[in-house]
Amino acid sequence: MANTDSRVTIHMAASLDGFIARKDGRVDWLETLDEFAGGDTMDPEFVEAFLKTIDCYVMGSRTYETALRFEAQGFGWAYGDKPTFVLTSRALPRTRETVEFHSGDLAAFVNERLRPRFRSIWFAGGGMLSAECLRLGLADDLRYSILPILIGEGISFFETLDKDVALHLAEVKAYKSGMVALRYEVRRHTGAQ
Ligand SMILES: NC(=O)c1ccc[n+]([C@@H]2O[C@H](COP(=O)([O-])OP(=O)(O)OC[C@H]3O[C@@H](n4cnc5c(N)ncnc54)[C@H](OP(=O)(O)O)[C@@H]3O)[C@@H](O)[C@H]2O)c1
Repeated sequence: MANTDSRVTIHMAASLDGFIARKDGRVDWLETLDEFAGGDTMDPEFVEAFLKTIDCYVMGSRTYETALRFEAQGFGWAYGDKPTFVLTSRALPRTRETVEFHSGDLAAFVNERLRPRFRSIWFAGGGMLSAECLRLGLADDLRYSILPILIGEGISFFETLDKDVALHLAEVKAYKSGMVALRYEVRRHTGAQ
């Protein structure tokens, strides 16, 4: 039985033109130099408390490989000690006990394995997995952090989405860094109205 309290959230940071990485996977543009005087500051204590509310992470293999590269470069592991499920059909290095690999039916995995166990299920990207998650109607919330930059081309927030997904805007927050954080709830009746 699915835990009816559980929520699946997709969250990524993207350029204003809708890209989560350059074509070659680089995310060097995530650090921007903007300043928006009227914006909020990101309180580290709030961030820490917020991260504690996330029960597990789910990501595509390419995002996992980026996370491993970041870690090898000394930037640390962004997912703490939370269970992290990596979707892949390949045999990838497992660098910590919290990482688990999965392949195959994403809907069955989320509804039968994750929802009964976890309340806050966080899809951390990338574009391919996020699109699959939305196509299958698995997402409840979508968090889109828009950075003040245009990069022209790259990997889209949602790669090859094949239908409309209607959303409800639930929260808007602008930060001093120039980032705008949007939270949408996925409307269950999708498509043209
Ligand atoms: N800006 C941000 O916030 C942000 C967030 C996350 C990622 N990123 C960037 O986005 C890029 C990666 O995104 P992406 O769209 O290229 O790839 P992705 O979604 O991270 O990974 C796609 C891969 O996951 C595996 N996969 C997906 N669904 C599966 C399923 N149901 N069963 C088994 N395997 C499945 C497949 O790989 P296999 O070949 O292994 O089977 C697929 O090629 C990276 O550059 C990363 O840095 C940015």
